[in-house]
Amino acid sequence: MKPIVIPLPNNAELAGTIADKLDAHIGQATILRHPDGESYVRVDTPVSGHEVVLVCTLDRPDEKILPLLFLARTAKELKAARVGLVAPYLAYMRQDKRFQPGEGITSAYFAELVSGYVDWLITVDPHLHRRNSLSEIYSIPAKVVHAAPSISDWIRSNVDQPVLIGPDSESAQWVASVAEGADAPYMILEKIRRGDRDVEVSVPEVGRWRNRSPVLVDDIISTARTMIETVSHLNRAGMMAPICVGVHAVFADRSYKDLLAAGAARVVTCNTIPHVTNAIDLSDPLSRAVQEMWLSTP
Ligand code: R5P
Repeated sequence: MKPIVIPLPNNAELAGTIADKLDAHIGQATILRHPDGESYVRVDTPVSGHEVVLVCTLDRPDEKILPLLFLARTAKELKAARVGLVAPYLAYMRQDKRFQPGEGITSAYFAELVSGYVDWLITVDPHLHRRNSLSEIYSIPAKVVHAAPSISDWIRSNVDQPVLIGPDSESAQWVASVAEGADAPYMILEKIRRGDRDVEVSVPEVGRWRNRSPVLVDDIISTARTMIETVSHLNRAGMMAPICVGVHAVFADRSYKDLLAAGAARVVTCNTIPHVTNAIDLSDPLSRAVQEMWLSTP
């Protein structure tokens, strides 16, 4: 029985490539909004006995999560063998602690919700912050795909004489591995974030890299303030206009335009969230991860 890959709205392209690589059928689902704002879901492809893979990236998660969970539950009731979720971008990873009295630890609540409805989860470079692995909050099998090797390949093929730049100490290990794969030097900056849109970045002595093409790499570009601050510093230091590489193109409001206006030579992202900047395809490692998941979870 062939597996069935079902894309949720706006996930058709990546889901189609993953289905091809898995030799799976593409299934259809209908998601509508009733006039009163409630969600209507229907699984249009017979799923009984099949492995089902839902593909739904979870940026702007609040509008997506209920239909996704309803669809997962429906597929299970229709006797799918298993229902897995490929969520290339996994939301609600940042609030992993009560920073202020009374705050909700939403990363744990979100994990509990998802774990109650799907049998397994695959995502790309979740922003783990203070946690070591997804299994600390997800009670289902969860696998992480790393974008670093694909980013290294892209840099190798597209940038002459790169120097990689990581925005903060949290990115150090990750940027080091991208740099190693790209056979390029790297430096790590220091970042202070005072609020959602208030970021300060300190740039160390960059003079010796003036003849190299700076490539900023970060996992998420959201308000883009981190990248914008860094681009401005590099411009002032007389470096070439940098290429900005992000894994997840969240791009809140007009942040993409602001980043270009700040002087980025080019903005490039992985295809975890559909965006005009997607240039690095992760369908290969995602498909491999699905196959590994099927093999490792009987
Ligand atoms: C933070 O720790 C992350 O690695 C990114 O640096 C951050 O999410 C980028 O956010 P923004 O684009 O809003 O500056």
